[in-house]
Amino acid sequence: MTIMLADGRPMPRIGLGTWPMDDRQAHQAVTYALSVGYRLIDTAATYGNERGVGAAVAEAALPREELFITTKLRGSQHGYDATMRGFEESRDRLGLDYVDLYLIHWPLPGHGLYVDTWRAFVHLREQGLVRSIGVSNFTPEQIERLVEATGCLPAVNQVELHPFLAQRELRAWHAGQGIATESWSPLGAGNKLLDEPAVKELATAHGRSPAQIVLRWHVQLGAVPIPKSVNPERMRQNLEVFDFSLSQEEMARLDTLDRGGRTGGHPDTHVEL
Ligand SMILES: NC(=O)c1ccc[n+]([C@@H]2O[C@H](COP(=O)([O-])OP(=O)(O)OC[C@H]3O[C@@H](n4cnc5c(N)ncnc54)[C@H](OP(=O)(O)O)[C@@H]3O)[C@@H](O)[C@H]2O)c1
Repeated sequence: MTIMLADGRPMPRIGLGTWPMDDRQAHQAVTYALSVGYRLIDTAATYGNERGVGAAVAEAALPREELFITTKLRGSQHGYDATMRGFEESRDRLGLDYVDLYLIHWPLPGHGLYVDTWRAFVHLREQGLVRSIGVSNFTPEQIERLVEATGCLPAVNQVELHPFLAQRELRAWHAGQGIATESWSPLGAGNKLLDEPAVKELATAHGRSPAQIVLRWHVQLGAVPIPKSVNPERMRQNLEVFDFSLSQEEMARLDTLDRGGRTGGHPDTHVEL
């Protein structure tokens, strides 16, 4: 099951997040995930587990075109030349000919280099080394600067998104532009979201787990969630969200949980190297 990106490429509707996993954990988790049907795997240079992800992908020996491997550029490698080097390092650790989606991990506006970085991303896509290019943790203003400079729109913006931080305005803006929204910390990163009475009551009503209710909310919003789990039972359960649906009233009930509650940094101020 896929959504279509504005660049014409399909992207799976759900994926596996791999932070925080080391190489060994990522190898084990991704091996299991691929065996039960995950096709989108989310990693990053800063996670330190690209070798583990790459080893699992190689051993699974699935047709390459079925897979959707995402990685992200680390902050200390912003700038045109550093980006080209950073990408080659990631590609080498992953052991892939090409990456399906490459993201600028954070905009780091204080460094003033994300536009030059984006020029390198456009070049990598032209070379066929990356199939789709996107950003993570960018504001609309930051994305507009990329488009003004290069004429090239990111296919994806991966942002913190869960019922405590519903990102209503940002999602609407993405939809207007044709940018896909990908949700990080989709389960609220273990932050009590799954204990909320509204979530638990809907879980009981549907005979599902609280995590499945929240993941279904993402899917119905049209966002692509990337829940992290190292637990086989949870990994399997997190994929099984396409055989039931939430009513408009149930979606609206989950929408009332929005309190602007970030667990991570803000795009304008976060510093990550
Ligand atoms: N772009 C960015 O800046 C950025 C930032 C943060 C994260 N991310 C990406 O987003 C991914 C997901 O975010 P996240 O790891 O912060 O948070 P998350 O996926 O919302 O939550 C992960 C937590 O939920 C638990 N969990 C998973 N499935 C569950 C289930 N069915 N029932 C109960 N608990 C469950 C996991 O524990 P177990 O492992 O024990 O199951 C883990 O403690 C990351 O792995 C990473 O790939 C990106």
